[in-house]
Order: sequence, then structure tokens, then C-alpha cells
Amino acid sequence: MRLAGKIALVTGSSKGIGRSIAERFAQEGADIVINYNRTPRGAEEALRNVEATGRRGLIVKADLSSITEVRKLVTTAIEHFGRLDILVNNAGIETHAPFWEVTEEDYDRVLNVNLKGVFFATQEIVRHLIATKRPGKIINISSVHEELPFPNFTAYCVSKGGIKMLTRNLSVELGQFGITINSIAPGAIETPINTSSSMTQRSSAHCWRRFRSDDWESRTMWLDSLPFWRPLTLTMSQVQRISSTAGWPGIIGNNSPMGDIE
Ligand SMILES: NC(=O)c1ccc[n+]([C@@H]2O[C@H](COP(=O)([O-])OP(=O)(O)OC[C@H]3O[C@@H](n4cnc5c(N)ncnc54)[C@H](OP(=O)(O)O)[C@@H]3O)[C@@H](O)[C@H]2O)c1
Repeated sequence: MRLAGKIALVTGSSKGIGRSIAERFAQEGADIVINYNRTPRGAEEALRNVEATGRRGLIVKADLSSITEVRKLVTTAIEHFGRLDILVNNAGIETHAPFWEVTEEDYDRVLNVNLKGVFFATQEIVRHLIATKRPGKIINISSVHEELPFPNFTAYCVSKGGIKMLTRNLSVELGQFGITINSIAPGAIETPINTSSSMTQRSSAHCWRRFRSDDWESRTMWLDSLPFWRPLTLTMSQVQRISSTAGWPGIIGNNSPMGDIE
């Protein structure tokens, strides 16, 4: 029970990676704020699974591309549970088009959810943590495409590159408050975001075998390999990414073997 007594908000937890994180956090003792935008049924299923662990859950609908809704999401969560300890910025979308055909609407849609939403959700919880003089933890779900080129997904890559720099910058700025911020950059994982895209076809069968969303054991092992569990009492904020030396082909990092993380 590594998260006993903690309150965690997981954005985009109605399906895919976010839902797995929400359900796993509940298994580790956290109460969960489940956020969705267009998939209420997924959010309800996630809530049932959270409550089945004996933890409390709350569903809040909010479109992360709207600052007003982002603020309402965080405020509603705090009003309901009294506080927030952990924010997982997971919600994300992608659009597929050659660079020269990307429309302003597509660009705005991707950047608003993937980067603006993360920026202002983080700002809102940071304000809350500073005001209540408590440490906290922010985890950004980025992508290997924060660094790796991905032709025809330029807006997506730009948004994830932005998350990488946001994380690095805030790791320096927020350390003084005992707020840690980390980003995780997964490789391809079979979820609704990409099951029909060409990315899926290009990804290796080996990767899918290990990370299929319906394979609970693999999902759990994957989540266990992530640095969610760093104690909230840490006063210094650090950017840590998991090294591929940890043996997980779906996650890349640069220089942080697992032994350094706890
Ligand atoms: N799957 C991969 O291969 C992969 C690889 C690297 C990184 N990632 C990243 O991991 C994160 C999760 O991806 P996933 O594969 O789990 O995607 P997914 O299965 O499509 O799930 C996306 C989640 O984000 C939510 N969402 C989308 N737009 C939203 C909005 N405007 N406001 C609030 N929530 C919104 C969705 O909620 P609704 O359905 O309710 O709208 C859903 O819960 C993303 O940031 C993605 O970039 C994924």
C-alpha cells in the first residue's frame, strides 16, 4: 500500500493508460479523481474498479483543452476530498496528417489538450499545494516522441517536446516547495488512441505482448516500473526517466537505472 491515504487526480482516466493508472493507484491505497471528456461509460467502469479496492472515487467531466474546465476539475476534486496530493497529467490526443496538411483546428486541438491542459492543471495543483504548505507529486505522461521524430504526427511531437521542457523547468522551480515533477515517456502501448493507426502496425509484436492493455500482469509490472512511488516527503524535485536498462522496451530514458529511483 504505497499510496495509502493519498488523493490522486488522473486526467483522462476513462480508458487506456490513465484508467490503468487510476485503478492501480487505488490498489495501492489512494482515493482517485477520475476525469473524462467523452467516455462516461469508461469513467463509470473505472469508478467501480476503484471502489472494489475499498477506496473512494469521484468522476469529474472536464475538457482539458479549456482552462475554465481544468480549473473547475481541480477545484471540484479539492472540494470533494479536502485536498489533492498527486496529479497525473495523462490525457492526450493525436491527429494524423502530413505537415503541409495540418489545419489550425487540428493543431489547436492537440496542443490545447496535450500541453495547455497539462500546463494549467499543473498550475492549479501547485497553487493549492503552495497555499496549503504541503508537498505533492506531479507525473506527466509524455511519449518517446518528445525526442523521436514521428512523421505525420508533428503537432503531437511538438506537444510532447513541450511537456519534456515543462517538466525540466518546473523540476527546478518547484523543488523549493517539496513538489516533485517527473515525466514518463512510453513507447507504443496498445490502447484506444492507436489501435487503428499505422503506428500500431509498425510496432513490434514483442512490444504488444508485454504491454497489451488487457494483460493485467504486464500492465501491473509496467506500472510497478514507474517512479510513482517516490515518497512525497522529498524536498528536492528531480526529473527522472526510467532507463531502458530496466529491461522495458516500451519506456525510454537516458541515464536513470531503476536502482537510483527509489
Ligand atoms: N498508447 C500509446 O502508445 C502511448 C505512447 C506514448 C504516450 N502515450 C500517452 O499516454 C497518454 C494516454 O494515452 P492512451 O493511449 O491511454 O490514450 P486513450 O486510450 O485514447 O485515452 C486517452 C484519454 O484521454 C482522455 N482525453 C482525451 N481528450 C480529452 C480532453 N479534451 N479532456 C479530458 N480528457 C481527454 C480520454 O477521455 P475521453 O475518452 O473521456 O474523452 C481518455 O481517457 C496520452 O498522453 C498519450 O499521448 C500513449
